[in-house]
Amino acid sequence: MNTLKAVRGARDILLEEAEDWSYIEGLARRVLQNYHYREIRTPIFEETDLFVRSIGETSDIVTKQMYTFLDRKGRSITLRPEGTAPVVRAYLEHNLQREGSTTKLFYIGPFFRSERPQAGRGRQFHQIGAEAIGSSDPALDVECISVLLHLFRELELAGVKVRLNSVGCKGCQPKYKEVLLQYLRSKLTSLCSDCRARLERNPLRALDCKKEECRSITHDAPALTGHLCHSCSEHFGEVQAHLDNLKIPYSLDPHLVRGLDYYTRTAFEVTHPDLGAQNALAAGGRFDELIAQMGGNPTPAVGFAAGLERIILAKGGKLTTPSQELIIYLAPAGEKAHRQAVKLLHQLRSRGIRSEMDYEERSLKSQLRLANRLKAKYVAIIGEKEVRKKIVSVKDMTCGGQEEIALNDVVGVVAQKEASVCQIPHRS
Ligand code: HAM
Repeated sequence: MNTLKAVRGARDILLEEAEDWSYIEGLARRVLQNYHYREIRTPIFEETDLFVRSIGETSDIVTKQMYTFLDRKGRSITLRPEGTAPVVRAYLEHNLQREGSTTKLFYIGPFFRSERPQAGRGRQFHQIGAEAIGSSDPALDVECISVLLHLFRELELAGVKVRLNSVGCKGCQPKYKEVLLQYLRSKLTSLCSDCRARLERNPLRALDCKKEECRSITHDAPALTGHLCHSCSEHFGEVQAHLDNLKIPYSLDPHLVRGLDYYTRTAFEVTHPDLGAQNALAAGGRFDELIAQMGGNPTPAVGFAAGLERIILAKGGKLTTPSQELIIYLAPAGEKAHRQAVKLLHQLRSRGIRSEMDYEERSLKSQLRLANRLKAKYVAIIGEKEVRKKIVSVKDMTCGGQEEIALNDVVGVVAQKEASVCQIPHRS
């Protein structure tokens, strides 16, 4: 029988890598909480209609990438391909709006898109995302960019770049679409088959097409920013003024549109040079019309999401996560010693001292070898003599020294040793 493997595009996150993930997630939680975002966890699956209505019928995500299935009652269910629509659904369902203030929510978790897997692109991937719902203040758009940069700074991720655009609103976007449509119609035969098929319904999609033939055409397409209405133009100007004021570097990209239809006004991407073709570490923007479109009162909102796999990739495995090394390994010899070790282990762990013992009746010699391999700082030897004298022989694995400590004092002594060398969290 063939051994089973993880499904292509989904992978196991193992050991050190999983520890790196926890570290990044913890850091992200702290940074986001600093900016006064609160955590939300929405289900992994939703009714398909939620995504079709919000992301857009012509988008690549809806037409090609969703994991959709019928449940036992014949309802169409989709594994969430992104987090904004579920957050808006939850916001409306649970009346999360705050009188006179913005509702700021963040999420960390898995998302699913059936794309061709490659470096930085999975079918199950993970996002750290946030949504600020209830205000159109351009300062909030800039807060989204600034919280991302703060996180990347904490991760010592150098070389990130911000690309910025405004995609207008339902007032000015249709006029621009008309201008763009005219331009693209004149190049129709050179566009890829996907862009040709969706051209009349949504010409903006062509600007986001990654195919070479389309890119060379859209390069010379009329810019969206030249067609913004007065209030979108003013809003965009304010976003830039805030960025300048905070000395956040960015570049304007008049052809930046995102693959999701709900965006209005600000759209941005944060890229990293080491990511190759999938160079977006994070992306986001405003979605001022989505909440009304989903049945709520007209409510402006802005948000972003960063890809965890891409953060790890951009770091190139150079994370300084807290050490997982053992403080003390207990090496008992004999039945009585084993029982004593179980109790001592319980006491050590209750004091928060990372500890482990032998469960396989190894010889003392092989326990010491194992402790060495596990990089334990100390080994507590409990042999016949130790049981008789109610002591433990504690060996310091760094300097090789050994001392006898009364059984009842071991926890206190080890805790003290640790406290004296370890005022700040351990780093490997
Ligand atoms: P998105 O641009 O589709 O936006 O995804 C955001 C980030 O998720 C990307 O920049 C990338 O880092 C990561 N990502 C997306 N797809 C994959 C994949 N297949 N494999 C690995 N990483 C991936 C959104 O999802 C919006 N909901 C962001 C947002 C929140 N806008 C407003 N609020």
